[in-house]
Amino acid sequence: MKQNVYDNDAFFKQYEELREEQKGQNANDLIEIPNFRKLVPDVQNKSILDLGCGYGESDKFYKEKGAKYVLGTDISEKMIEKANEENKIEGVEFKVIAMEDISSMDKKFDIIISSLAFHYLKDYDKLIKDCYELLNDGGYLVFSQEHPLVTSIKYTEHVPKGHMVVDDKYFGIFSDYNRPRRENKRMVWWRYNKIS
Ligand SMILES: C[S@@+](CC[C@H](N)C(=O)[O-])C[C@H]1O[C@@H](n2cnc3c(N)ncnc32)[C@H](O)[C@@H]1O
Repeated sequence: MKQNVYDNDAFFKQYEELREEQKGQNANDLIEIPNFRKLVPDVQNKSILDLGCGYGESDKFYKEKGAKYVLGTDISEKMIEKANEENKIEGVEFKVIAMEDISSMDKKFDIIISSLAFHYLKDYDKLIKDCYELLNDGGYLVFSQEHPLVTSIKYTEHVPKGHMVVDDKYFGIFSDYNRPRRENKRMVWWRYNKIS
């Protein structure tokens, strides 16, 4: 079954706050975005598919960097609405499409990107196969997904915030690190080149 937590009003509001919090100085701006962009090959004249595009900031970025066409897709209508409001420019489109359904798409792409969204899917193998089918020969899949540490914090009655501060040092309680769960699968950045 597909999940779509970002269309929950409270969750979406919290996500917006998180993205705004210390804008330019948070982990997304300082670590995820610059490192991800280093892995993306030359986009000049390329067609790009972004899976789980969120606000679509990267899609506008790659179009302005010279991509021919960028399609941002997301399961969340709220995300696509915001992407259309904030980042739609000529040559960039946004569509509500779940990653589970991309095999029904009739276009192929030179580059598929996905930043911090693959961990929401249960069937990783199918997703990778679907991406392969959607790539032109020699194309690239570049994706990242959440590190297990992010979701492994244990909240207990004695440590309700999941961490303690002792002598100005931060101690996280990561006891759930080995608990198997859907989002706890793989490490952070990957780049695959499709060789036919
Ligand atoms: C952490 S956000 C990342 C957004 C964007 N890639 C970015 O880096 O700013 C995760 C995104 O994945 C989307 N998502 C989650 N499950 C999805 C699914 N099954 N199909 C498509 N998008 C999904 C969410 O709606 C959300 O926009």
